[in-house]
Amino acid sequence: MLPNRMCEALRPLLSTLGGNLKAGRAIVRDVRFRSVLVEDTMSGENRMDTWQERWKEGRTGWQLSDVHFGLENHASKLLPKPERRILVPLCGKTVDIEWLYREGHTVVGIEGIEQPIVEFFSERNLPYTTDHLTWAKVFKTEDDRLRMYCCDIFKMDMESLGKFDAIWDRGSLVAIYEEDREKYAQMIKALLAPDFRYMISATQYTPNEGFSGPPRNIPTALLEKLFGDVCELQVLEESIRPKETLEHWGLDYFVEALLLLTPRS
Ligand SMILES: C[S@@+](CC[C@H](N)C(=O)[O-])C[C@H]1O[C@@H](n2cnc3c(N)ncnc32)[C@H](O)[C@@H]1O
Repeated sequence: MLPNRMCEALRPLLSTLGGNLKAGRAIVRDVRFRSVLVEDTMSGENRMDTWQERWKEGRTGWQLSDVHFGLENHASKLLPKPERRILVPLCGKTVDIEWLYREGHTVVGIEGIEQPIVEFFSERNLPYTTDHLTWAKVFKTEDDRLRMYCCDIFKMDMESLGKFDAIWDRGSLVAIYEEDREKYAQMIKALLAPDFRYMISATQYTPNEGFSGPPRNIPTALLEKLFGDVCELQVLEESIRPKETLEHWGLDYFVEALLLLTPRS
């Protein structure tokens, strides 16, 4: 078993040895350590450790200062009617939450680390109250139209959350560990109301020795496999990252595909 903290500590050593950390596996390629595969333990009880450290150290490069282009360009497809109930899984402290709330929707965020939730409210001077549930600590606005649950998404109480008209999935499916994907997809599908809209931002590239995410590679075929039983998939837009910005990851291409998932007819 290799705890997350140890994975992080091993990273420089592995890089010196020509090895890497891939989806929680430490793979050492040096001849002295040929074919050593240290067991994958990036999920389970310590799933949140790496994220906790990232927030503490301010390593949050995924954060955008403006509303995501997907919401700006396609909000009417995700939210065709007013006053929808929308879920933002693995929300961090994204500005998208505030935007959705100001647009008049009821917004529920799920985030495993308390720091970004507290910062979200305090940076906006948005008054809030908290409740301690058995499975989460919930932060809510005075009008109760915005709630952020602090818990590991795999431990949330699905029944008390109810169903959602819409889900905005940016930095969420691409962030969870590979072995958690199937469970994540089952949970998301169980939370969708009958006439749902589910929008996903999927990062797509060919992972290599130096970089395999997060954000992880989520090809459209994988989305079909995970959600195709109940959803029709439509690619709305593809944003291609310029090649020169990819050099530090050693990638040839990197696409952010925006997909809308609707009920399969
Ligand atoms: C890549 S960030 C994306 C945040 C946000 N969606 C955005 O676009 O800015 C992923 C977030 O998910 C949180 N997270 C990771 N795994 C989680 C889990 N299993 N349950 C709840 N939150 C989780 C992390 O703390 C982090 O804030």
